[in-house]
Amino acid sequence: MKKITIAIDGFSSSGKSTMAKQLARTIGYRYIDSGAMYRAVTLYALENSMVAADGTIDEKSLIAALPDIHIDFAPTENGQRTLLNGRDVEDEIRTLRVSNSVSPVAVIPEVRHAMVAIQQAFGVEKGIVMDGRDIGTTVFPDAELKIYVNASAETRAKRRWIELREKGDNTTTYEDVLDNVRTRDHIDSTRKESPLRRADDAIDLDNDNMSIEQQNAWLLEQFNKAANC
Ligand code: DC
Repeated sequence: MKKITIAIDGFSSSGKSTMAKQLARTIGYRYIDSGAMYRAVTLYALENSMVAADGTIDEKSLIAALPDIHIDFAPTENGQRTLLNGRDVEDEIRTLRVSNSVSPVAVIPEVRHAMVAIQQAFGVEKGIVMDGRDIGTTVFPDAELKIYVNASAETRAKRRWIELREKGDNTTTYEDVLDNVRTRDHIDSTRKESPLRRADDAIDLDNDNMSIEQQNAWLLEQFNKAANC
């Protein structure tokens, strides 16, 4: 069976990371969460006073700091952890504070170019599952398997809200999360640079009414077809 590149794109909280991770584990591929990289850059901006109270990003300073921002992933027993300049920031990058500022950071072309270069370097040897917004269109346009995941904003907000509660966040309401999901959907799909767009050769997955097990089985089937041809 040949080693391939797998690109999984879709809106936030569409369940793509969960199934991408599971597939990578099952087939022994490396998994890269490209959204975590934009989140880590956002955390860096927040920690270095580059985000004003009204949410405006000090783009000039952030672009100048890009060479000092090193992002990597460390596999652990509890799954993969995102490292920002060697520090484990996996939990911090999932907070609503970061979620609320990540879209304006991810629209900055220089930030995108820097992240895409790192993502392409991760994929040089294939044998990789990467999820995001522009993986099948910009990062790996030649990927052998491209999946585009669709789910309604309400379903996705509910999933993320349950996730936050499970992590002990009892203050964020479902409406807060739904607002954040809708705002990000809008920014992600209307931005000039690499908007979320289905690649012409992607396979669609509508997972509103599918269980995680059903999605995993469906994805494994797509992988077997793509890797065997
Ligand atoms: O998948 P996520 O919600 O963790 O992504 C966080 C943000 O990063 C999201 O608002 C869109 C952006 N993103 C992007 O622009 N391109 C990617 N390849 C992945 C994520």
